[in-house]
Amino acid sequence: MKILAIETSCDDTSAAVVENGRRVLSNVVCSQNVHSKFGGVVPELASRFHLENINSTVERALKESGVDISKIDAIAFSASPGLIGSLLIGQITAETIAYIFKKKLIPVNHLEGHIYSPTIEHKNLRPPFLSLVVSGGHTDLILIEDFGRYKILGRSRDDAAGEAFDKVAKLLGLRYPGGPEVEKWAKRGDPNAIKFPRPFMYETWDFSFSGLKTAVLYYLKKTVNDYPSSPVPYSLSCNICASFEAAVVETLVEKLMLASKKFNIKKLAICGGVASNKKLREALASSSKKEKIRFFVPSPQYCTDNAAMIASAAYYKLKYNCIASDCSVSSSSELLSWR
Ligand code: KG4
Ligand code: ZN
Repeated sequence: MKILAIETSCDDTSAAVVENGRRVLSNVVCSQNVHSKFGGVVPELASRFHLENINSTVERALKESGVDISKIDAIAFSASPGLIGSLLIGQITAETIAYIFKKKLIPVNHLEGHIYSPTIEHKNLRPPFLSLVVSGGHTDLILIEDFGRYKILGRSRDDAAGEAFDKVAKLLGLRYPGGPEVEKWAKRGDPNAIKFPRPFMYETWDFSFSGLKTAVLYYLKKTVNDYPSSPVPYSLSCNICASFEAAVVETLVEKLMLASKKFNIKKLAICGGVASNKKLREALASSSKKEKIRFFVPSPQYCTDNAAMIASAAYYKLKYNCIASDCSVSSSSELLSWR
């Protein structure tokens, strides 16, 4: 089964053709670099750029896959959650292609896309497994009981991990998106220089990173004369990035190892933009090895938003005959089981 998928939930316009959920024939991502000067995604600009880029992105995805539209079995798109104007561009495009070429239309929850992203390259990854979606909008711990059967164990109560990376970058005057910037600066810093709090929250499987971000702000106010009017010295920025990154990594690793024990699941997968963080990948790989847990993480191109993961999630919906009658988009939505 070959699926053409479209992903436009935030600021990346992406289209992909994927065969049987795991064989990526093309995955085109057109990033909108306009937002970095605003320090965050401007929704109105994002939808305008999707509109400009969507047709050429879909055309490229089809061309690079070498698959004629007549050989495509279904059209999938991210329907929720996300920026509503951005989602609408993907929805209208997918609906139009499906209508003209008489194809099935499969709306996909964006989180579900992330969840299946590790299965693209890890052919032996099958449920049950624990999944941590760690992105700009989510830090969600989900038990994937089977394809289409989800049990949400915990989620972000305030700032998601990626959002905390973005906000700390902003506090330091670094570019958006903050995650890759903080990671870059952290390489030149000492992770033990500043002891930021680790928000373990042992009484719940939820996550909370806003306190950690605020701790960075208080630290800056305490140590930098005339902050935020005066710039943060280079070496201090590096140490803050490294120490903040270490606090996030330690918190996530500790919680995931505990969850694996508690729920007795020996397969762990992470996904979403923050999953491309090298320190997090290394720490989880090493702790998993010690605990005899099989650890799965996508390569960075499938961590950040991409349409291949949407096609992958759509494949399982098609395979198990979950054909939605409601193809509307929504800015927020629960991850619902469909089996
Ligand atoms: O999954 P994604 O592309 O979009 C959402 O669905 O949110 O994730 C974007 C988030 C941003 O907050 C970005 O700063 C973060 O992922 N991110 C990173 C890294 N690369 C992206 N965070 C930490 N380290 C990275 N290398
Ligand atoms: Zn995402």
